[in-house]
Amino acid sequence: MALTGLKEDTLKLVLFGGKGGVGKTTCATSTGLYLAKEGNKVLVISTDPAHSLSDSLGKEIGDEIKQIEGVDRLSAKEISAEKALSKFKIEYDAELRRLFDTSTYLDKEDIDSILSLPIPGIDEVMGFKTILDLIDEEKFDKYIVDTAPTGHALRLLTLPELLDEWIKVLAKMRWKYRYMVTSFAGKYKPDSADDFLLTMKKTVKRIETVLRDSNKCEFIAVTIPEDMAILETERLINNLNKYGIKVKQLVVNNVLELRDCEFCRERSKAQEEYVKQIRRKFNNLKITIIPLQPREVTGIEALDKFTNLLFQ
Ligand SMILES: Nc1ncnc2c1ncn2[C@@H]1O[C@H](COP(=O)(O)OP(=O)(O)O)[C@@H](O)[C@H]1O
Ligand SMILES: [Mg+2]
Repeated sequence: MALTGLKEDTLKLVLFGGKGGVGKTTCATSTGLYLAKEGNKVLVISTDPAHSLSDSLGKEIGDEIKQIEGVDRLSAKEISAEKALSKFKIEYDAELRRLFDTSTYLDKEDIDSILSLPIPGIDEVMGFKTILDLIDEEKFDKYIVDTAPTGHALRLLTLPELLDEWIKVLAKMRWKYRYMVTSFAGKYKPDSADDFLLTMKKTVKRIETVLRDSNKCEFIAVTIPEDMAILETERLINNLNKYGIKVKQLVVNNVLELRDCEFCRERSKAQEEYVKQIRRKFNNLKITIIPLQPREVTGIEALDKFTNLLFQ
């Protein structure tokens, strides 16, 4: 079976997720290539701090959107969560200071040290916000995301909630401040710090809404026929379900087909068992089996061939 449904007009965002080394980047770039050839304007985005779009596409990609030479309609971009975070801190420095200044008894030094602390999930949320802003710009028909390995991707997806908690605490402090101002001055006028909290709240909500909208967004799991990978895939899919993100398709990569040597026969036999196990465990998912290739799948030509396996 092959990956299906990705050409649907309403589907804007496709995320590939799974354990490290199972083929997420290869699937993401190959899918981008396929959809571009089918006439879509495609942006492949990597959120993995260990960016490998450049290696996969065989072209240097960076933080800026880059049109892939020789492939019409295909562009790529590697998002730096760190950069997104420092942009956030600079952009909202005044509001953050005001929040702490008016809501607590802290002095400037205390506030400085609070602001230098990591805010839970803010870098990932800001990285994801970058993706949503790109989608809102509507310059592309499809946005294909190569996510960081399972743990990290999950953190990204569950962190809107963590950040939500953080916002709630700040809002509570604000509320107390508000109450005080109202009792002394009689009237409270919302200021930039209130606007900031509202903006953050909206961003978190927006991320959740897009991720949970199965018409607009699809999360495709990638795995290999090995015990650990299967366990991790199960965890990933369960967690995604818990957050209201339904996985419908699974790619099983690196499946051995050669049987003309003793070693290959042995490996293949072991894999067969795991593939059976995968079919049993994930019997509600559409499964695409990808054979192990004799060579690494890098560069446009190799990805093009891989496309035939993914979408034939
Ligand atoms: N079916 C395959 N056969 C052979 N090599 C593959 C296959 N799929 C991926 N690869 C190679 O395996 C390596 C890891 O794949 P990659 O897509 O970077 O994984 P991930 O992004 O999940 O870490 C890369 O060198 C890639 O070219
Ligand atoms: Mg990768």
